[in-house]
Amino acid sequence: MKTVEQIKLPILKEMEFFETKFKASMISNVALLNRITHYIVRRKGKQMRPMFVFLVAKMVSNGQFKERTYRGASIIELIHTASLVHDDVVDDSNRRRGFFSLNALWKNKIAVLVGDFLFAKGLLLSIDNDDFDLLKHISIAVREMSEGELLQIEKARELDITEDVYFDIIRKKTAALIASCTAIGAASMDVDKAEIERMRKFGELIGIAFQIKDDLFDYSEEKIGKPTGIDIKEQKMTLPLIYSLNHCSKKERRWLINSVKNHNKNKKRVREVIQFVKENGGIEYTIEKMKEYQAKATEILDDYPDSPYKESLLSMVNYVIDREK
Ligand code: IPE
Ligand code: IPE
Ligand code: MG
Ligand code: MG
Repeated sequence: MKTVEQIKLPILKEMEFFETKFKASMISNVALLNRITHYIVRRKGKQMRPMFVFLVAKMVSNGQFKERTYRGASIIELIHTASLVHDDVVDDSNRRRGFFSLNALWKNKIAVLVGDFLFAKGLLLSIDNDDFDLLKHISIAVREMSEGELLQIEKARELDITEDVYFDIIRKKTAALIASCTAIGAASMDVDKAEIERMRKFGELIGIAFQIKDDLFDYSEEKIGKPTGIDIKEQKMTLPLIYSLNHCSKKERRWLINSVKNHNKNKKRVREVIQFVKENGGIEYTIEKMKEYQAKATEILDDYPDSPYKESLLSMVNYVIDREK
């Protein structure tokens, strides 16, 4: 398997330049805001989304890219960062990227407002440069993310989630933004509509696999820079648990539902639920599903001639499911 450094080789210059632009895009006249955004850029994430933007842009255009490809990457990383800041408020989570989350350090009020600021900065970056076609992709993703999160909350309240609804939630809350990365990468090079749509679909499939992996992390004890074992506490039922609920006795099902409904803050009980899921095939089934999406994503690249960009994209798809954080 390729390392992230190897994957980045064909887009090294772009990623370096992107980082400078990304930092600059957050500047404000308010000192408190600058302190906080400084904190954010110091703890950067994996930057997978900008990588997708650049790799797709270069794959569809034989190694070219444009100024607006950079902007597309910055907008997406701004929106992604904003969504994580808000997500940690929503999930009441105190860790992100191996350190304290903004809400843990500055409280919810400030985290909500900083998230809004980053959202607005992202949108303005498109508007100020007349990138309205790119803005459309982004705005669709933002709408889908909010809907996905709310659908997730609705289902956490009712505890009646099915597998179909689970896939609908993760397609909206996570895959939509990754789909916009790959769509924007293509759109920034002015290729035809069908190709943009093909790349959008590619990103969506990757995004679904990506969130399944994230949900699997929650069942592990690995150190990934954010809390694990918090989904059940938040009454969030993900694929491993959904599978187990559908493949156990009535009595076990009652116990599982009752655990999530009434004992979700009880650490010992949550551990027992996790153990039950592990012993009843929930993890294996989920890995299988994740691989199905990986394979579907990879298939889309079959139509493209070999290139360093295609090769890196293939490795990215593998990285999404093999990553350790
Ligand atoms: C985290 O995304 C949010 C999810 C959609 C699961 P990443 O895992 O890409 O976050 P960073 O940017 O690398 O921290
Ligand atoms: C994914 O949701 C984050 C967004 C879509 C904003 P999660 O709540 O599952 O992600 P993590 O695990 O906190 O990163
Ligand atoms: Mg969340
Ligand atoms: Mg979360």
